[in-house]
Amino acid sequence: MSNILIIGGAGYIGSHVVLEFCEQIENVFVFDDLSTGDFNNIDSRAEFIKGSILNSNEIEKAFQISKPSTVIHLAALKATGESMKQPVNYSRTNIVGSLNILEMMVKFLVQNIIFSSTSAVYGDPQYLPIDENHPINPINYYGFTKKSIEEYIIWYSRLKGIRYSILRYFNAAGYDSKGRIRRVEKSSQNLLPIVMEVLIKNRKSISIFGDDYDTKDGTCERDYIHVSDLASAHYLSYKKILKSDENLLLNLATGKKYSILEVINGCEKYLNKPIKFDFTERRLGDPDLLYSNSLLAQSKLGWKPKYSDLRILLTSMYNIYKNRG
Ligand SMILES: NC(=O)c1ccc[n+]([C@@H]2O[C@H](COP(=O)([O-])OP(=O)(O)OC[C@H]3O[C@@H](n4cnc5c(N)ncnc54)[C@H](O)[C@@H]3O)[C@@H](O)[C@H]2O)c1
Repeated sequence: MSNILIIGGAGYIGSHVVLEFCEQIENVFVFDDLSTGDFNNIDSRAEFIKGSILNSNEIEKAFQISKPSTVIHLAALKATGESMKQPVNYSRTNIVGSLNILEMMVKFLVQNIIFSSTSAVYGDPQYLPIDENHPINPINYYGFTKKSIEEYIIWYSRLKGIRYSILRYFNAAGYDSKGRIRRVEKSSQNLLPIVMEVLIKNRKSISIFGDDYDTKDGTCERDYIHVSDLASAHYLSYKKILKSDENLLLNLATGKKYSILEVINGCEKYLNKPIKFDFTERRLGDPDLLYSNSLLAQSKLGWKPKYSDLRILLTSMYNIYKNRG
């Protein structure tokens, strides 16, 4: 059993990663400032340490208490639109916060890091499906911060021997299908949470940005990966970097893509709940299609998404949203 420090483990994806590592009988510590995370989503087997990655004393204390062999770093600001308006906040939390974590890893001789990166590092697709060799050219500041952190991690690996698994997620969705993560995300700006808010009548309808994209029905198509599939990939990549000298840089995606209208129609098809929508202007910087295969993750980790079809994505989310507290 090893000590794992999961930073941002009270968040949407983080709480699923914590659950997976607790199920695998690892000794889990969660460090989080609860700015968007929820204490109630942290598995009771994990030890919680409250604090911010922007406060060196608090991070140092977390390292002292948890004595980790591995850090999983998920804490970040993540709204692409907001990042264009608040670059200073995004630099501070994402870049400075990550450097604080790396500094502490060096100080405490922690060997391994698993880092939450994003498909936003790629920018507009030059070809599809996007693989790990695709050019890196973020078109929003959020993507730029993640690209920068990746580079710092790779440099620290060269200079200090830190081993890494950088995981570039596509669109995370779904909830634990056994209902063990009960609190929903606060003010998420992603499609599926917004769809859920319409379903539970916290919003009247959904506005779709643009109906004339070069896709099967004119609305944007995206690759949605179930959070439980993301969580299992974290565990497998943790095992992999422990037992080999190899660093990993992997896309986590499904290779399937669903259009916005398919997601909306899925609510009627799988949940028997039609929802209201209208069309508005396109948003700047939304590519028609964005998807990846995860052939590299499959071959390196022996991982395959199990829960990422639209029916499971929608039903697992709706089961949580309809009972939200
Ligand atoms: N949700 C997605 O579709 C998606 C896609 C690609 C990448 N990611 C990345 O995955 C990670 C997790 O995303 P999420 O969707 O779970 O978001 P989230 O907001 O639910 O989780 C982030 C967690 O970090 C914590 N946090 C934020 N600032 C902190 C600070 N200064 N100190 C300590 N804790 C802090 C929050 O309280 C929260 O618990 C992020 O790094 C995000 O960029 C998410």
